[in-house]
Amino acid sequence: MKHFITTADWSRAELQAMLDEAKRLKAAPINQTLAHKKIALIFFNPSLRTRTSFEVGIFEMGGHAVVLQPGSGSWPMAFEPGAVMDGVAEEHVKEAARVLSRYCDLIAVRAFPKFQDWAEDRQDLVIKAFAEHATVPVINMETITHPCQEMALMMALQEHMGATDGKKFVLTWTYHPKPLNTAVANSGLLIASKFGFDVTLLCPTPEYALDPRYMDLARAYTQANGRSLTISHDPQEAYQGAHVVYAKSWGALPYFGRWDEEKPIRDAHKHFIVDEAKMALTDNGYFSHCLPARRNVKATDAVFDSPNSLIIDEAENRLHVQKAIMAALAVK
Ligand code: CP
Repeated sequence: MKHFITTADWSRAELQAMLDEAKRLKAAPINQTLAHKKIALIFFNPSLRTRTSFEVGIFEMGGHAVVLQPGSGSWPMAFEPGAVMDGVAEEHVKEAARVLSRYCDLIAVRAFPKFQDWAEDRQDLVIKAFAEHATVPVINMETITHPCQEMALMMALQEHMGATDGKKFVLTWTYHPKPLNTAVANSGLLIASKFGFDVTLLCPTPEYALDPRYMDLARAYTQANGRSLTISHDPQEAYQGAHVVYAKSWGALPYFGRWDEEKPIRDAHKHFIVDEAKMALTDNGYFSHCLPARRNVKATDAVFDSPNSLIIDEAENRLHVQKAIMAALAVK
C-alpha cells in the first residue's frame, strides 16, 4: 500500500502521470471515480485552501468527506509509542487510525511542527504514526512538507511554461513577523529539482538553509538531471535571469525553539520582499506563493497582481491535483 506523504517516495514519471490526470480533471471535473468512497480529512491546524479544495474535489468525484479537528469536535490524540496518557489526550493514534480505516478509504492529515525542537519535528511523527497504524492510504495535507502544494505549483508552471528542464527556479526566503514552517520551502526545493530546473535557494544567511535531508535530495535530483543547486544570500545575483520566483518565509532551523534569538536576523532582512525592481532582473519570470500571504510584507501588491503572478492558478490547481492523487490511491 502506497501513501502520498512526500513526493520523494514517487518518481518523476509517476508524479507526471498524476499531473496529466489533473489536467484531464481540470477539463472535465465531474465524475464518479470516488463513488461510495469515504475520505477522512484530519486537521490539527487551520486551513482555507486545503480543506475547501479537498472537500470540493471529493464532492466532484462522487465521494464523501468526513472532516475532523482533533481537540475541537473530536478527541485530542496521543502519538508517542508507550505514552502514559494522563494529559489532555483521550485516545491514541493506534486506535484512531485503525478505527478510521474501518470507516474510510483514505485518511488525509494536516499536522504542523510544534516549533520547539526541530530534532523532534523533523521526524514527522504524527503522519508517520497514521501511516503505520492505518490500513488505508494516507495523504499529507502539510506536515514538514506540503506535497499537494508541490503538485499544484508544478501544474501551474507546466501550464504557463511548458517544459521546465533547464529553466531557472529561485526559491526566495521572505520576511514574515513570525517564524513559519519550512514545509512549503522544502517542497518547492524538492519539486523544482526533480522536474529539471536549475535551482537557486536565496536566503538571508547560511542559517536559513533547509534541513539537510531536503538539501541532499535536491542536490541529488539536480545532479541526476544535469542541473545545478545554488545557495545565494544576494538577491541581485539570485534573481538574475530567473524564469520562476517562488516566495516563502521560514524560521532558521538552528534557532528552533529560541525564536527571540532569530528575530534580529529576520528583522534585518525585510528587504528580501519580492518587488518590481527584483522581478525586473528576471527573464520575464513568473512569481508564485502557496498562500496565505501577507501583502507588502512578502511581496508587493504590484507583484501579487502582475500578469506573471501564478498565485491564484496554483491555488486552483490544488483541487485538480488532489483529485488525481486521491484517484491514484483510492481506486485499485
Ligand atoms: N496553501 C495552503 O495549504 O493553504 P491553507 O493553509 O489555507 O490550506
